[in-house]
Amino acid sequence: MSKKETPLFPLRKGLHARQAHVDLPAGTFEEEHARQGFFGRTTHLYRLHPVTDWTRIEGPLRPHSYDLNPLADSTDAKVRASMFGSTEPAFAPICLLHNSDVALHWVAPAAMDFFYRNADGDDVYYIHAGAGKLETTFGALTYATGDYLVIPRGTTYRFLPDATPQRYLLIESFSEVTIPDRNQLGPNAIFDPAMIDTPELEPYDATPREWAVHIKRESQITKVYYPFNPLDVVGWKGDLTVWRINVKDIRPILSARYHLPPSAHSTFIAHNFVICSFLPRPFEEEEGAMRVPFFHSNIDYDEVLFYSAGHFFSRDGIGEGMMTWHPQGIHHGPHPKAIPLSRTKDRTDEVAVMVDTFRPLKATAAAGLVENTDYWASWK
Ligand SMILES: [Fe+2]
Repeated sequence: MSKKETPLFPLRKGLHARQAHVDLPAGTFEEEHARQGFFGRTTHLYRLHPVTDWTRIEGPLRPHSYDLNPLADSTDAKVRASMFGSTEPAFAPICLLHNSDVALHWVAPAAMDFFYRNADGDDVYYIHAGAGKLETTFGALTYATGDYLVIPRGTTYRFLPDATPQRYLLIESFSEVTIPDRNQLGPNAIFDPAMIDTPELEPYDATPREWAVHIKRESQITKVYYPFNPLDVVGWKGDLTVWRINVKDIRPILSARYHLPPSAHSTFIAHNFVICSFLPRPFEEEEGAMRVPFFHSNIDYDEVLFYSAGHFFSRDGIGEGMMTWHPQGIHHGPHPKAIPLSRTKDRTDEVAVMVDTFRPLKATAAAGLVENTDYWASWK
C-alpha cells in the first residue's frame, strides 16, 4: 500500500509528537521504525525506556565495534588470509565486512613498484591518515587526509605515499559509484561540482624496465607484464575518470529546527548501498528539536560507521580509527551520556564516514581480531 493510497495515514495512537523529532512527550524516547532507510513508510514509537537498554543478548545478532588502528601492522595469519586482491606488502587491502554489493577494506600502502587494476568494482578511498600521489592512466593526482578518491572499475593505478603513516578506508563497490541528485537544493549544494579535482597528465617514470599490472578479477590476481610504463597515455577525452573531493569542501545541509536523517548527508550512491559523510556542523538550535539521532533499527539496511576525526557526539567510548557495524533487526541510537551532553554544546566537530547496505554484511576473521566484544553492553 503506498502513501498515496492511504490518506488517513499517519495513524495516531496514544502519546506522540505531531512533528517527528520535535517536542517529544515528557519522559519518552522516540524510536523510528521505517522502511527503505529514511525514505519509506515510517512509524514513530514513543517508549518509556531507551530500546537499547537490553540486559543480555543470546544468539548471533548484535551491534559490533572494531578498533582498526592496530590492524595495518598486523602479521597475524588470519589478517593475511582475509586480504582481498593482493598479497603484495606494498598494497594489501584487509577486508573487514562484505556482501555482494560492497566490500570494506583497511589499507596501509607503501610506494608501489607495480600497478593495480580492479576488474571487480569501483574503488572509493577515504584517506583517514597520510598523503601522497596517485598515478593513474588518466594522469596523476595528489591526495591528503580527508580526501575521497573515486577510481572507476578498470583504471590502472598505483599509490606513491609520502613518509607519514598511511591509513585508508577502501569502499569497493561492485556497481558504478555516482553522486546523489541534489533535487531542490540545486546543483551547487553540498559540494559544487567545480570543487572536484581530476588527474593531470604529467611526466612519468619512462626508464626502460619491466612493469607489472596486478589485475583483480573475482578476488584473484593476474599479473600482466609490459616492457614499458603503462602510464604512456599522451592525451584523453571523455567523462569517465578518477576524481577527488576533500571532506572540508563538502558543506553539510542542516536545519536549525529539525534533526535531518543520515540520508541528508549522502555523498555517493551505488546499487544497494550509500556512502554518507558526517562533518563538523552546528547542532539544531530550537529548544524542542532533537540534537542526537533517534533510536532506530534501520530494518532495511545494515549500517557501518567509520570514525575518522573529532568527538563523536552520539557515541561514548568510540575514538578515531574505530568502526561500528549495526546490523538490520537490532536497535541502535545515542549512548546515554549523549542526549544531555548534546544540550551543552553548540556544534559537533566529528568527521565520520557511513556506509548503509541493503543486503546483510558478513564480517571476516580479520574483523574478529580487532572487535570490542563488549560493545553490545555499551548503552548501559
Ligand atoms: Fe543508524
